[in-house]
Amino acid sequence: MMFVKLSQLLLLLLVVSGAIGLENGLARTPPMGWLSWERFRCTTDCMQFPDECISDKLFRDMADALASEGYADVGYEYVIIDDCWLAYNRDADGKLQPDASRFPHGMLDLSNYIHSKGLKFGLYEDYGTNTCAGFPGIIGHMEDDANTFASWGVDYVKLDGCYAQLHDMDIGYPAFGDYLNRTGRPMVYSCSWPVYQEFNGIKPDYEAIIKTCNLWRNYGDIQDSWDDILSIIDYYASKQDEIIPHAGPGHWNDPDMLIIGNFGLSKDQSKAQMAMWSVMASPLIMSNDLRNIDPEFKAILQNKKVIAVNQDPLGIQGRRVYQNNNVEVWTRPVMPVQNNQSSYAVVVLSRRTDGTPFKISVLLELLGLTNPAGYAFEELFDGVTHGELLPTDDFEVRVNPTG
Ligand code: GLA
Repeated sequence: MMFVKLSQLLLLLLVVSGAIGLENGLARTPPMGWLSWERFRCTTDCMQFPDECISDKLFRDMADALASEGYADVGYEYVIIDDCWLAYNRDADGKLQPDASRFPHGMLDLSNYIHSKGLKFGLYEDYGTNTCAGFPGIIGHMEDDANTFASWGVDYVKLDGCYAQLHDMDIGYPAFGDYLNRTGRPMVYSCSWPVYQEFNGIKPDYEAIIKTCNLWRNYGDIQDSWDDILSIIDYYASKQDEIIPHAGPGHWNDPDMLIIGNFGLSKDQSKAQMAMWSVMASPLIMSNDLRNIDPEFKAILQNKKVIAVNQDPLGIQGRRVYQNNNVEVWTRPVMPVQNNQSSYAVVVLSRRTDGTPFKISVLLELLGLTNPAGYAFEELFDGVTHGELLPTDDFEVRVNPTG
């Protein structure tokens, strides 16, 4: 028989209840889905832009496209409403309510529709007094709002950090996570906690963040340009020793949305974003118009082998291992593992603008690929195999400019 003194019992209870808050069992691999913000922003004029405004129709259209155009089949599952879905005021009981003209059937009806397609439903809110676009935030209503989300069948919550006290976040983000867990409904919890702190000179407490959030933004909002993709990649490279260790099953760094299929990226740049987001173990949350995507971009978004790298069960975030002549190499350890040696996903990224493919040649062991048994190489976008290489062999590829 085991005796536990009261003080020990309290401690045990605390540890146990803490553990419930830590792991909600979700996002064992990076979440995949679609989110409105980058492509559709805060378009609210449905008279003038009926196909683009943040409305019931937009999210039903996207759910339809995810289900019918092959995206759901390769893993994209969350349909997430970003900012600008709310009415400017809470209802008479203090409950959150959507804008009635743009969401005339209410949130539960939309949620049911998304679920009927075999998909999951995500919703945006903000930890502060207001969302970034000025709609009501959750501060002062955290428990009620968590319950409202659960009653609407929400599966994923993105909690932004505009109009909030930065130091309060260390208490408030975990508190809201607890309220979400206490509803009993599993909800992926996406936090903007570290990015607001980092941008204001506060060092994020990643040990606490990974115990609370399934994913979190580290850096600024993605924009529709190659330059912006590069600035995001630079951020993750420059902070890789600090950031990479926090990623793993259940908790991921989030460099923001995939913008493939929009206005700003060429085909090579799109392949580069897809490859980099996969090697960085990033959530694959598209923000684009799934009703109008050229087949070549769709094929990039739906490439199963590249997605398998992103979804690799080891959950290790990749790193930049080599830079020369404006070309860099990133590697990520992936399955299968044999004799304690992992396989690797390798990305060769070119920032060059001299318009012809550039040849790089580098010893495999310099990239950290040191398994004496060697490696069989396959180019994942084209499915072309390149034979086997030993660590002492040169890894030789040609890479197109800006991609
Ligand atoms: C912030 C977030 C974006 C988006 C907007 C909405 O800028 O970082 O991802 O949610 O707010 O207003």
